[in-house]
Amino acid sequence: MSPPPYYRLHVFCCTNRRPDGHERGSCAAKGSVELRDYLKARAGELGLKDVRINSAGCMDRCEPGPTVVVYPEGVWYRCRTRDDMDAILTEHLRDGGRVTRLMLPPRQ
Ligand code: FES
Repeated sequence: MSPPPYYRLHVFCCTNRRPDGHERGSCAAKGSVELRDYLKARAGELGLKDVRINSAGCMDRCEPGPTVVVYPEGVWYRCRTRDDMDAILTEHLRDGGRVTRLMLPPRQ
């Protein structure tokens, strides 16, 4: 039997950076570090103490990034702006819904 989750939600933000011009690009080259910092700060301001925001290395879904994944649900998002992060914060992390317009497609 597994123990209960330590965090209600665990969010991983890719902050991998590849060299400029790399054919796959990278999330950091598209602003993911600043967006992760914004997400962490806003989660704190909203009092989401049971939600953990972590940096991650490449999660191999680079092209649509910046890439974020939320566990335990395993919902993947493309987050390109602070407005995207705000939507995930309020609609998913706080209220338990999904931001379908930002969700990445399932594995084919
Ligand atoms: S560089 Fe972010 S998922 Fe690969």
